[in-house]
Amino acid sequence: MIFAGASNAPLLGVNIDHVATLRNARGGRFPDPVAAAELAVEAGADIITFHLREDRRHIRDEDVARLKAALRVPLNFEAAVTDEMLALIEQVRPEHVCLVPERRQEVTTEGGLDVVGQFARVKEACGRLAAAGCRVSLFIGADAAQIEASARAGAPCVELHTGAYANAWWAQDQGGMASELQRLKDGLRRGRALGLQTNAGHGLAVWDRPAPHPFPSSTAAVAALPEVSELHIGHALIGHAVFVGLRQAIADFKAEAVRARDPRA
Ligand code: PXP
Repeated sequence: MIFAGASNAPLLGVNIDHVATLRNARGGRFPDPVAAAELAVEAGADIITFHLREDRRHIRDEDVARLKAALRVPLNFEAAVTDEMLALIEQVRPEHVCLVPERRQEVTTEGGLDVVGQFARVKEACGRLAAAGCRVSLFIGADAAQIEASARAGAPCVELHTGAYANAWWAQDQGGMASELQRLKDGLRRGRALGLQTNAGHGLAVWDRPAPHPFPSSTAAVAALPEVSELHIGHALIGHAVFVGLRQAIADFKAEAVRARDPRA
């Protein structure tokens, strides 16, 4: 199996949910997440990621249809493991699907999917979505039991939740960063040993102030891990775009990932 990003920088999946959140704040059609996705692709995004939540709080069904019609890069459709979402994905047939846990009250996806606890359901979803031609990834914590269950469920891919590492990075808690990074490394290696493609995402950022920096950005630290094939980044990238523009924000995150793998780049 060939893993994208194994020998060079990981691919960058840009999550455009936050553009839809901004649009929905005024209830109109601006800023348009589909236009943002097109610009992101022009600026170097390899994958466009979005999460169609049960409550449609940001991305809406019509956005999904427009994204599918407009884009030529792979779409990564994040969704909860519900009958409604599985049926929608079978209609849309995105290239990638990432199954995530979802709680109505949460602000963002907190923690990973419990594959062990709902094994039969996740396994069935993996089979259904593979039959629809989608590459299925499971968004899980870097936990040995969850990684092994993901492989047994037939998912070809996992995305390890980097939220705990990212929180330690924001807090500049170097002890927490070291231990969370080690957990990610162990999880990535375990996933690869089981033949899974291993991606990573959640909470990753670049420095929001000029160099010198006391340690690498969270994006650089995770991108440097050779087993990471794709990074999926939303909040901090769109936040960075407020200051530098979306095109530059994507260039900055991509450059960070490229330099992390090859300091001469
Ligand atoms: N990956 C998955 C599976 C997610 O659910 C999210 C958040 O929607 C992200 C990555 C991106 O997280 P963030 O917006 O914190 O960069």
